[in-house]
Amino acid sequence: MSPYATTRTLPEDATGAALRSDVLAGLTGSPKTLPPKWFYDAHGSDLFDEITTLPEYYPTRAEREILMARAAEIAGATGARTLIELGSGSSDKTRHLLEAFSELTHYVPVDVSESALRGAAKLLLAEHPALDIHALVADFTRPLVLPPTPGPRLVAFLGGTIGNLLPEERTAFLTSVRQLLSPGDFFLLGTDLVKDEATLVAAYDDAAGVTAAFDKNVLSVVNRELGADFDLDAFDHVAVWDAGREWIEMRLRSAVAQTVKVPALDLAVNFAAGEELRTEVSAKFRREGVQSELAAAGLELTQWWTDSEGRFAVSLSTVPAS
Ligand code: SAH
Ligand code: AVI
Repeated sequence: MSPYATTRTLPEDATGAALRSDVLAGLTGSPKTLPPKWFYDAHGSDLFDEITTLPEYYPTRAEREILMARAAEIAGATGARTLIELGSGSSDKTRHLLEAFSELTHYVPVDVSESALRGAAKLLLAEHPALDIHALVADFTRPLVLPPTPGPRLVAFLGGTIGNLLPEERTAFLTSVRQLLSPGDFFLLGTDLVKDEATLVAAYDDAAGVTAAFDKNVLSVVNRELGADFDLDAFDHVAVWDAGREWIEMRLRSAVAQTVKVPALDLAVNFAAGEELRTEVSAKFRREGVQSELAAAGLELTQWWTDSEGRFAVSLSTVPAS
């Protein structure tokens, strides 16, 4: 059996402290917000996996099509021996890369969801018993300490998760990715592309209501972890396309005027009827924007692949020679 290790780079109470400070800032701000990373407890991770199978949610299928078509090319271009994947979740699409990378010996999945990491490693080890998997339970928006593994290293950030960062968070994030890379290493990035509003809104407000349940799950997390009394039935899921910023916003709209108590923060939060709490942005991209954001962080985009319908892109970047 090959080695499997998990490192929790979050100090024991980091999750609790970070949740408290995010909820306090988010629920006392105007407009009210909560950061999307808190969707992903074990139930939220399962709901996200269910979203990826919905007819309306095209990004996973589109990115899988690209990875299946280009995995051999990516393997050839990078010759990677270590794959580091940020926000790896179920690592389901990663399989297509692992199958194509003949030189690859080490896989370092990084996620805040320990349950997702555990489930993914179990399945991957069954398929690749010789692979060394070192999972990191960590927040990819914080400085990462990676295990020492052989180069060349490919850092992958798939699924379009970069779109869940606000523009200033993206800038800081890409700069930190650049700092993880040495000359000869690579960055593989999945980005969902700008498209018509109806397709986008349907992808974030599906007919079966799975995305609504995923959205409301953040309230369950706050109830469980901070003793809050959010009534999930008193909020409606809303998905709105912001054409100016080119992002989808997921919001929870208070159906009635209500006060929610958060005992762990000694906080009572008033919601007016119809008031909205923003729970996620999901930015959509164009090639020029991706290329210039990468360049601003010191990365050079060398390859850009889209699916056959032009809905999603995967790009490969390098550290330019100095
Ligand atoms: N890459 C997978 C999963 C995408 S879902 C795919 O393409 O299908 C987003 C994943 O990122 C979830 O597993 C979630 O737990 C993780 N995540 C979200 N915010 C995070 C953060 N700040 N740090 C680490 N992981 C995070
Ligand atoms: C993880 N991330 C890329 C998803 C997205 O599409 O923004 C999260 C999601 N939110 C609603 N559906 C899926």
